[in-house]
Amino acid sequence: MNISLIDLKRQYKNIEEEAEERILDVLRNAQYIMGENVKKFESEFARYLGVKNAISVGNGTDALIIALKALGIGHGDEVITTAYTFFATAEAIAYVGATPVFVDVELDTYNIDPKLIEEKITEKTKAIIAVHIFGNPCKMDEINEIAKKHNLYVVEDAAQAVGCIYKGKMIGTLSDIACFSFFPTKNLGCAGDGGMLTTNNDDLATIIKALKVHGSGENGLKAYNLLNDIDEEVKVDESADNTVYNPLKYYNYIIGQNSRLDEIQAALLRVKLIHLEGWTDNRVRAAKRYNEGLKDVLVTPIEEEESRHVYHLYILQSEKREELTNFLKEKGIATGIYYPVPMHLQEVFKPLGYKPEDCKNAYYLSKRTFALPMFPEITDEEIDYIIKSVLEFNHE
Ligand SMILES: Cc1ncc(COP(=O)(O)O)c(C=O)c1O
Repeated sequence: MNISLIDLKRQYKNIEEEAEERILDVLRNAQYIMGENVKKFESEFARYLGVKNAISVGNGTDALIIALKALGIGHGDEVITTAYTFFATAEAIAYVGATPVFVDVELDTYNIDPKLIEEKITEKTKAIIAVHIFGNPCKMDEINEIAKKHNLYVVEDAAQAVGCIYKGKMIGTLSDIACFSFFPTKNLGCAGDGGMLTTNNDDLATIIKALKVHGSGENGLKAYNLLNDIDEEVKVDESADNTVYNPLKYYNYIIGQNSRLDEIQAALLRVKLIHLEGWTDNRVRAAKRYNEGLKDVLVTPIEEEESRHVYHLYILQSEKREELTNFLKEKGIATGIYYPVPMHLQEVFKPLGYKPEDCKNAYYLSKRTFALPMFPEITDEEIDYIIKSVLEFNHE
């Protein structure tokens, strides 16, 4: 039996007809940028999370960069984040000119350890980026409390965590700004790149909308006024047809960038969003079956109380990771190593001077963790075959 880590073709089969109809509609209507599908997807996504504003962008990395810029973070600032994440989290901090400050993770949740955050706060610290790694929620109550005490912003990197629930609340609603990725393999993935920012703060939403489109137009002017404390109403000619010609488009007020979700991706994401809860239930079902079968031989993932892990990746730990993953490969089972290099030891961050023991849990996990196949359509038969194969391996 051959089982891949993720099987996007199976997912597509389930939505093929509807997706193709919607995508063809976009092609026929020839409104490719900032059209109806983008607008509708943003409001449907906001409704799904229960957040006031959802603003789509070109990808999850841009979402993080734009979030930090919207909060005014740049040169001379420090941003605290986890040592155990995908590079984009740390990259976004460095990209805006700030310094990433890495905090070690909890050995059971793999998320930033809130108990270690306060000792890293300095006068330069402006924000904490909490990454809900693999789809498991961070301890947001503790993180938000520390942030409040020290007057810091909180950004959620929810790239792997759409649909994730923390103490009954949706991830993406628990911080100043949350960032999502719609990279194809994500739980809600498009057919290319895509991303989203969510916030309950209307002023931040305006600034984000300006930053993603060159700081131009009505939002550009509003953002300029907000950033410069100018209390002036922005008057727009309501009679103008902005879909054909936006009279303010070539007037720029702040330095932004070009980062937009396109209509084709939005059309596909709208179809997929309807299925997301069902897909998440299937991921949880698969994880439970894995846990039952494997808990006696390997360290299986844990779930926080009143929370929902959405199992973007199903991660295990093994002392004998290389031998085990090679053994599974021979049985036709794909595995993945997440993450082989923690952030504090990335070559590019060498000048920051971290040693392995500075984030010792992240270092330890980087030598042991690996992912088994996980996608909503995986069958019980496939999971049982994987469990049987893992149990055949000598873990001693
Ligand atoms: C934790 C995390 N942050 C950020 C990103 C960046 O998202 P994107 O690939 O859409 O730029 C990803 C995904 O790749 C991710 O897993």
